[in-house]
Amino acid sequence: MRNFDLVVIGAGPGGYVAAIRAAQLGLSVACVEERATLGGTCLNVGCIPSKALLSSSEHWAELKHLSAHGITTTEASFDLSAMMARKDKVVGDLTKGIAHLFKKNNVEWLNGRGTIPAPGRVQVGEETVAAKNILIATGSDPAGLPGVTVDESVVLSSTGALSLPKVPEHLVVIGAGVIGLELGQVWSRLGAKVTVVEYLDRILPGADGEIAKTAQRLLQRQGLAFQLGRKVMSVTQTGGKASITLERRDKGTTETLEADAVLVAIGRRPRTAGLGLEALGVALDGRGFISVDAGFRTNVPGILAIGDVVPGPMLAHKAEEDGIAAVEALAGHPHGAPDYSHVPGVVYVAPEIASLGATEEALKDAGRAHVVGKFQFIANGRARAMATTDGLVKVLGCPETGHVLGAHIIGRNAGELIQPLVLAMSTGATLAEIAASSHAHPAMGEAVKEACLAALGKPLHA
Ligand code: FAD
Ligand code: NAI
Repeated sequence: MRNFDLVVIGAGPGGYVAAIRAAQLGLSVACVEERATLGGTCLNVGCIPSKALLSSSEHWAELKHLSAHGITTTEASFDLSAMMARKDKVVGDLTKGIAHLFKKNNVEWLNGRGTIPAPGRVQVGEETVAAKNILIATGSDPAGLPGVTVDESVVLSSTGALSLPKVPEHLVVIGAGVIGLELGQVWSRLGAKVTVVEYLDRILPGADGEIAKTAQRLLQRQGLAFQLGRKVMSVTQTGGKASITLERRDKGTTETLEADAVLVAIGRRPRTAGLGLEALGVALDGRGFISVDAGFRTNVPGILAIGDVVPGPMLAHKAEEDGIAAVEALAGHPHGAPDYSHVPGVVYVAPEIASLGATEEALKDAGRAHVVGKFQFIANGRARAMATTDGLVKVLGCPETGHVLGAHIIGRNAGELIQPLVLAMSTGATLAEIAASSHAHPAMGEAVKEACLAALGKPLHA
């Protein structure tokens, strides 16, 4: 029987990064992955293909809005199959890159479905290997709607919505969360009528309310329609079309939408089934996530878990950071409990939406004293020069210490602009220190400095 110090199950951003880091730390490592390619949900059917399509469709959408720069296009067209082929190539190149990194770092890829027949044992197909430690990094699957069958042709999960062979005339998206908005925007830009149906009375639950409202307004201006406060009662299919029955939560009345495709994007669930966890006695929490301690250890000695399968934000960078912390702790370098309040989240629609730490509503609800500083991109020189003036930066700080409690940005490249605030929050830098640091001019990033100045009561350009 082959013997490893660590066997990782799942080669998503959590698992593959943990495997590489553990090998670099001198452990003998195998990584079990059942897909034909490495990289997990993120590389194969998540972060990367969605961003490839967002980028292609953004180029197309921008063609229509170049008149502000004095440019008009008379003849332009797009080829959906070429867009899809580009996306597939981006994915293919990156997944091959991980296979290369595995070879370079001496990580053995065991291709097949892994189960844990007993502590210290992992079975993959016919082979059982011995493992001093087992790291579960099996990720998550799309949540289903009761009574609704996803066929990936008319009723889609995110995976089907990343590979449609033609642009649907009417796409109904169920769920105004991250996936619904990102993929809704892709297909809207490519010509579909897109209606986003949401159970709550707002989009992007969890995001700062003011930012979510701004996002809704800007997305509506681009053509996305929202039906909020609607409960989906049924989705039926006839002749390649779908009929969606909704109930208005305020009035109790029902409405029907006809669509060529329906994307169900109502969240994701941890993937724990089929591993043998019940027989092993591995404890799950009330929501089905694997319970772990500060070192990502489950209640069963020698079995650890990270990423989407454990509590915390379901994000690739969080999975990666979990993985590094877990294996460094195994190798004798503990990190301490993870602090997920410092993990940024980015919705890659245009304009981009980035969030970090507490929202203004959460601080108010908690009765926590705070200062708010805002700066609108309309007053930023670079934004004016680029004609990207939609949006704002909002920072929330502690009035006594000046520490950053939260930051929320909607605007061009918000995902990059939030990064200095992430650094400030995790190192304890203050609003005054950010504001005092030199910011190149002209840059969208100056809006971050200005928002900090506003929070300190010393706005310059507002
Ligand atoms: P996963 O990436 O899900 O990987 C788990 C792997 O384990 C899979 O490859 C699976 O095949 C394998 N596996 C499962 N069970 C077994 C088994 N028993 N045996 C062998 N192999 C097994 N996050 C971001 O941060 N940014 C984004 O832009 C972003 N965009 C997204 C877009 C979409 C459409 C989706 C669906 C998700 C997106 N996410 C994004 C979320 C991100 O993909 C996940 O948070 C991340 O992939 C979680 O990583 P993980 O390693 O925990 O699990
Ligand atoms: P989500 O949790 O972001 O949004 C789901 C939405 O569906 C919520 O607004 C919720 O209120 C709504 N909803 C739930 N049940 C409903 C129902 N029955 N009818 C109507 N609406 C309903 O989940 P989503 O968009 O599926 O994404 C899953 C995860 O993937 C996210 O948690 C996110 O972490 C990750 N992801 C991250 C991305 C990024 O970082 N850019 C991109 C895509 C996904």
